[in-house]
Amino acid sequence: MAQNWSPDSWRAKPVQQMPKYDDQSALKAAEKELAGLPPLVFAGEARNLQESLGEVAMGNAFLLQGGDCAESFAEFNANKIRDTFRVLLQMSVALTYGGSLPVVKMGRIAGQFAKPRSSDTETQGEVTLPSYRGDNINGFKFTAESRIPDPRRMVKAYHQAAATLNLLRAFAKGGYADLNRVHGWNLDFVSDSPLKERYEDLAGRIDDALRFMAACGITSESVPDIRQTDFYTSHEALHLNYEQAMTREDSLTGDWYDTSAHFLWVGARTHQADHGQIEFVKGVKNPLGMKCSPALEPDELMKLIDTLNPDNIPGRLTLIARMGHEQVEEKLSPLVRKVKDEGRHVVWSCDPMHGNTFKSESGYKTRRFENILDEVKGFFAVHKAEGTHAGGVHFEMTGEDVTECVGGAKDVQDEDLGSRYHTACDPRLNANQALELAFLISDELKAVRQHKTPKPIEAAAAE
Ligand code: PEP
Ligand code: CO
Repeated sequence: MAQNWSPDSWRAKPVQQMPKYDDQSALKAAEKELAGLPPLVFAGEARNLQESLGEVAMGNAFLLQGGDCAESFAEFNANKIRDTFRVLLQMSVALTYGGSLPVVKMGRIAGQFAKPRSSDTETQGEVTLPSYRGDNINGFKFTAESRIPDPRRMVKAYHQAAATLNLLRAFAKGGYADLNRVHGWNLDFVSDSPLKERYEDLAGRIDDALRFMAACGITSESVPDIRQTDFYTSHEALHLNYEQAMTREDSLTGDWYDTSAHFLWVGARTHQADHGQIEFVKGVKNPLGMKCSPALEPDELMKLIDTLNPDNIPGRLTLIARMGHEQVEEKLSPLVRKVKDEGRHVVWSCDPMHGNTFKSESGYKTRRFENILDEVKGFFAVHKAEGTHAGGVHFEMTGEDVTECVGGAKDVQDEDLGSRYHTACDPRLNANQALELAFLISDELKAVRQHKTPKPIEAAAAE
């Protein structure tokens, strides 16, 4: 553990993007209640995830992380959770098949509530109010009352996260994720989708492989990995009152874990080395992520790596680059090169969402599918040029048929955005767009695979 660190040492540091509560006694009561509630995840699970991410860092696996920009209280139901889980499974089989690599599956889910905002206020017509900061802080509704931060919302968010996680665990371990159901995941897949054929073809190939394996005696009865999967949760470690209240000492190791999720990341606006968010995450043993924006310089990145992963443990730190499609090659290359030259083990993941947001003519915040794809391709090109592993992707996406991002095989147009624009924050890929991207990325992975053989983790770590 970092020296002089405690779960509340962040309180002595400057913090940004945090709510200011008027009612301090209500805040204390909510924190106390959360601190007494059961953990959502266990330390051992976080350690398993870190080990799997270690394989990603060494080039032997791929990370798929995705989910809502912001979960909300209003859009909370079982079908929505199932649909997001299902499209992540579909994407992961496409990636596993294309890349011949295990895929580490992680949702932005079961806790992804708090949002950093570019402005503290929002103006509609003549009225200016505090910005919406996520359902665990204040309300989306544009009224003065709803925008007041309410600490009880943290407790409500905890219970929603617990129920979400419960269902996800059941899906992951209770038979839904069985590879023999790969056709079944497609059942209510939009039937006129141009991707239907490609998905059916993939499912057929997986069937063939499973039949071959069964003939060799390898079935879902004999090998649990065929009928179940590991699915991990993650969110941005932004709202530190909540994160601190969920932090517990692991009885087995004496280490501190933030039990609100398996994996926590620090956003592009809050990773100043001397600020509260970095102070908080450096002391917890969960695997961590950090967003890297075009403003991040290589020396500053090295300082942050020293702070977050001083022991250079593969899997401890995932760097999530969100550069924008126009700048990815120029801005990412020096960072990747520096990290490699300094011999640091990190997972490099690509968030092609947050550098590609714009306001459309119709007034909606959106993203263009081709720009998202372009950034992913740029990310792969950088890693190819530097001889490093393009380790993963990070998407804002949903299993629903929303119209929030333009383009894709079904070619969502600007004028379509209004028909099913449901996000509480940033625009998400819909199920078709997300799966299409997974197929395109699996082609990239296949091309990489043809050029190299994986290294054993011990040998690579010793280099
Ligand atoms: C996000 O992931 O929703 C987010 C706000 O990202 P970033 O910190 O990269 O802007
Ligand atoms: Co977002």
